Amino acid sequence: MHSSVDALFNGLWENYLEVTPSAKKIHRILSEYDQGEATSQDNRFDAIVNDHIALRTFDIESVNLDKLAAHFKAVGYEQGGEYDFAAKKLSALHFQHPDPEQPKVFISELRVNELSKDAASIIHRLVEQMDASAVKADNFLYSGPHWQVSSQQYYRLLEESEYAAWMAAWGYRANHFTVSVNHLHSITELAEVNRILKENGFELNTSGGEIKGGKDVCLAQSSTMADKAIVKFSDTELNIPSCFYEFAQRYPMQNGELYQGFVAASADKIFESTNSSA
Ligand code: NI
Repeated sequence: MHSSVDALFNGLWENYLEVTPSAKKIHRILSEYDQGEATSQDNRFDAIVNDHIALRTFDIESVNLDKLAAHFKAVGYEQGGEYDFAAKKLSALHFQHPDPEQPKVFISELRVNELSKDAASIIHRLVEQMDASAVKADNFLYSGPHWQVSSQQYYRLLEESEYAAWMAAWGYRANHFTVSVNHLHSITELAEVNRILKENGFELNTSGGEIKGGKDVCLAQSSTMADKAIVKFSDTELNIPSCFYEFAQRYPMQNGELYQGFVAASADKIFESTNSSA
């Protein structure tokens, strides 16, 4: 496991950009619009702060949420809220670091045995191909799939759970990074971020509305639809949804402090950013 937060997040970010080229473009566009207080080219690039990242897994013991969380706990993260997504058959926890400038982490796990026997057995067969020690490697959280999967298995999983199919194809990596709108300088509203993205030709996830949540629940979120990238299956290559970029604006609670948790109803819709859009 990594011993520094920065090394872990740099690994996750570089791996994420490989299959999410639009995130790199958006990162640059937002930095340019938001030049505000920054003076040098380098400062501008670093001025974007992440609100959170999200990771996915299966609830099978050898690879469950706890195995992913251990990598964040090793660099000082502590458990925050607990979330349930009944329709998508997911459980999730969020983690946060004592340093509030470090990104929060949202980890979900698919309750495999709630799928049909057929789909569950496909997933068990994938996970059985993994080396038991893989989950402890420094780079585990951005190591991709540890199994051979056929396009037929992918499509079979897709019939029941988009999440299961995505995991089978992409394995371990950040599902999305999230820009903290609160930390931008001249851009102050999530709606403004959305307008800039649309003007630049990016497609937003409109499930549940372009902006999920809002001031009333102390968190507003929007996201792009996932990019597409090539996955080599055991029998063929397919161009399928990879990862997306998210944007979050947090509002103060009654006590005046910014809300640091997540909103299940909004996250439920954000999961759909990896659905095929066309
Ligand atoms: Ni998110």
